[in-house]
Amino acid sequence: MLKPIMTISRYILEQQIQNPGATGRFSGLLTTITLAAKVIAREVRKSGLLDILGKTGDVNVQGEQVTKLDEFSHKVIMDTLGRSGHVCALASEEEESIIEIPEGYPLGRYVLLLDPLDGSSNIDVNVSVGTIFSIHRRITREGKGMTEDFLQPGHRQVGAGYVVYGSSTMMVYSTGQGVHGFTLDPEVGEFLLSHENIRMPEKGKIYSINEGYHDRWERGVDEYIHYLKREDKETDRPYSSRYIGTLVADFHRTLLYGGIFLYPSDRKRPHGKLRLLYEAAPMAYLAEQAGGLAITGRERILDIQPTSLHQRIPLIIGSRQDVLTAEKFIRAAS
Ligand code: AHG
Ligand code: MN
Ligand code: MN
Repeated sequence: MLKPIMTISRYILEQQIQNPGATGRFSGLLTTITLAAKVIAREVRKSGLLDILGKTGDVNVQGEQVTKLDEFSHKVIMDTLGRSGHVCALASEEEESIIEIPEGYPLGRYVLLLDPLDGSSNIDVNVSVGTIFSIHRRITREGKGMTEDFLQPGHRQVGAGYVVYGSSTMMVYSTGQGVHGFTLDPEVGEFLLSHENIRMPEKGKIYSINEGYHDRWERGVDEYIHYLKREDKETDRPYSSRYIGTLVADFHRTLLYGGIFLYPSDRKRPHGKLRLLYEAAPMAYLAEQAGGLAITGRERILDIQPTSLHQRIPLIIGSRQDVLTAEKFIRAAS
């Protein structure tokens, strides 16, 4: 017997039907994101073949070199979503200020925040990259979207997700009713439901952190990582270490296998490296929707009131028990 084919658009539609108040506009927004994801996925697949690799020479607002695929992804998203009628403004890690909807196009009731290409330093070496998105309902009443529409705490997100361009392309998202994963069937050109209602294991046995910065860590982080390396049968230690350097890929593994990912603050980066609005908040939303946790070390990520668009934040995210243990070490040492 042929299994029913659950495409992402059908899934989004069925979730919409279950919610009698829904107008379909939000579903339209999600469907447009999947279109952008497919176009980016196609380009990522070709990136080894075309003369698209390498730096463009530009430096983005974070002071980092922009590669061509970053730019391409950013443009695809701005083009598909900026003209979709679903959002009243966009914000991207690649652009300093919020992005207005082109003249003449309708304004929607949502704002969309994006890391168009996460893990860009991994493109040239054929390692997974990703796209991260976060959706808020606008808080201003009318006209074009304003910065305040974007500066909302993570717990107010109405949806978030990511696409991982890995050994296969997967889109994982939540709209507050669990976390669901879809794998792109390249021949059909559709994302098909492959991971329904993902639950993060309560505890894992993998830790993920850039150990190169060890000497700059605060004592609590240092002691916690040492603890994970010590042998102990009862708590299943030592943990294994994995670090890809693409948040999307490191988080995706943590979501499915459990464990913990840390990009803490350190002596050189007192606020960590990751951006609250484009990286930490959407991942925290997904983690909590899957039964996990996300903290800075001291506070819950989703409670933080952002003060600026490109704000950075320390991120400790993963299985509930692992994050709570990390928090205990950090609190005890401070
Ligand atoms: P981006 O490519 O969007 O700038 O993000 C890179 C981020 C993130 O994906 C990853 O977790 C982190 O940078 C890795 O940083 P380090 O090289 O300092 O470990
Ligand atoms: Mn990123
Ligand atoms: Mn990026």
